[in-house]
Amino acid sequence: MDKRTRNIVLVGFSGAGKSTVGRMLASRLGWAVVDTDAEIERRAGKSIAAIFAEDGEPAFRALEAAVCQQASEGDRKVIATGGGALCNDDTKRAMQATGHVVLLDVSEEEALRRLAAHTDRPLLAGEDAAAKLRALYRSRATFYGQFEQRVKVDGKTPDQVVDAIVTDIQRPAGAHQDR
Ligand code: S3P
Repeated sequence: MDKRTRNIVLVGFSGAGKSTVGRMLASRLGWAVVDTDAEIERRAGKSIAAIFAEDGEPAFRALEAAVCQQASEGDRKVIATGGGALCNDDTKRAMQATGHVVLLDVSEEEALRRLAAHTDRPLLAGEDAAAKLRALYRSRATFYGQFEQRVKVDGKTPDQVVDAIVTDIQRPAGAHQDR
């Protein structure tokens, strides 16, 4: 089976819309959705902000890697990941082995706009939140740049992003196109 029909893995910076698009794409395809951040919170019994505050980022990353490893197994799943999940090489390998990875490509300015009202991302919280976002965004540029299928999300509704992904997975393998 073409691995693109096995799982679809959404990656991208905070605010790209991975959770929303993941739910809508799964419903369009009749597949299951796994939101790895939600699953981490379910397993820990507390919010991601609380995991960072009480247990530290390394504990969060370990739990994230375990949740992602499990999510990558099976098929017919849309997996919405946290923005840093595939920075872990084992996670990236596992997701790429069983799924078609799609980058939801949000610009720095649009991410800033979308996240301005949110305080729940520990890496982007605090008084200098905008500066933190800009620094994290730039430090992730090379990482996100490696994914071959990308859908630009600025100016698109979640429905339009879903359309772009569905169009792409119906193309013959190798015929990717930035959308
Ligand atoms: C993170 C992104 C968050 C969440 C955690 C760490 C990151 O998910 O996993 O706060 O490292 O970029 P979203 O991408 O859904 O904001």
